[in-house]
Amino acid sequence: MFRLNRREFIAGTIATGLLKTGGLTLADDRPMLHRSIPGSAEELPIIGLGTARVFNVDASPGLRAPLKAVLKELLDGGGSVIDTAPSYGMAEGVVGDLVAGLDHPGKVFLATKVAANGKEAGLRQIQNSFKDLKTGVVDLYQVHNLRDTKQQLGLLRELREEGKIRYIGVTHYVDSQHDELVDWVRREPMDFLQFNYSIAGRTAERTLLPLCADLGIATMINRPFQRGRLFRGVKGKALPEWAADFDCHSWGQFFLKYIAAHPAVTSIIPATANPKHMLDNIQAGKGGLPDARQRVKMFQFVDSL
Ligand SMILES: NC(=O)c1ccc[n+]([C@@H]2O[C@H](COP(=O)([O-])OP(=O)(O)OC[C@H]3O[C@@H](n4cnc5c(N)ncnc54)[C@H](OP(=O)(O)O)[C@@H]3O)[C@@H](O)[C@H]2O)c1
Repeated sequence: MFRLNRREFIAGTIATGLLKTGGLTLADDRPMLHRSIPGSAEELPIIGLGTARVFNVDASPGLRAPLKAVLKELLDGGGSVIDTAPSYGMAEGVVGDLVAGLDHPGKVFLATKVAANGKEAGLRQIQNSFKDLKTGVVDLYQVHNLRDTKQQLGLLRELREEGKIRYIGVTHYVDSQHDELVDWVRREPMDFLQFNYSIAGRTAERTLLPLCADLGIATMINRPFQRGRLFRGVKGKALPEWAADFDCHSWGQFFLKYIAAHPAVTSIIPATANPKHMLDNIQAGKGGLPDARQRVKMFQFVDSL
């Protein structure tokens, strides 16, 4: 059901991607799509937030204010997942400050990473991250880019047993490492796998997504816009009219709905420093999704541009 919402009406007049009808902009107030974390009773909202580069800012209010607004849009829209890492410069500290200062009933699902060689170095980095994130429990801890994977996964398991971490996983972001990821998920029990997948980069459909579904591993999708490159590819191009058939009203929603419609996808983490883009991305987790036939039409359309 669509309902006119004043805040989103105002935002929508300047946003790129809300439903426009009869000269008015309407926001989709339907609940965000959730997906289960396999093996647990917990569900996650399909659209989350990445923080690489965009949250690497100092404490100046002018830089922090839009990021605070991004978090508010995420939570207002029913999202919760925030993905960060110690290698994203000041991002963990910014997330920690802003989440601690949030006056919002919504709950954040915090994901971060460890990238270190050896157990002591890993533990030191994790202790710093807990301090920066201002938390006693991190929801998801991931071995970043398969660095010292065996050792760091062992450390993460110990911390999970101590109740400091709720879920563990590993990450990468390039197709050339998907075979390595396949080996690790077959070899080592884990809760989540994070990897790259997008409408123009569909390698994960061949092995990683079906394998995670088979093994009961949750998936977190990074680089859904190929770091913004997808928007440059469609600049000045109109959305096809049939996108409205699955409640899609912007290119951002087009790219995200393609991913969200894959049943093995648990959570997608597009990065943004722009609250209007966050609102746009949130809309992708609401309303209809393309079916299998429409998904083929979608990637053929993008491939043809
Ligand atoms: N190895 C790893 O573990 C790994 C590697 C890569 C990424 N990641 C994670 O995945 C996250 C996402 O990947 P990414 O940051 O590389 O790139 P991405 O999410 O594919 O693209 C981000 C870019 O898209 C733009 N954007 C976002 N929403 C938009 C919208 N609705 N309309 C127009 N432009 C929009 C952003 O600019 P604006 O700020 O202007 O919105 C930004 O430049 C990272 O932040 C990180 O958390 C993990």
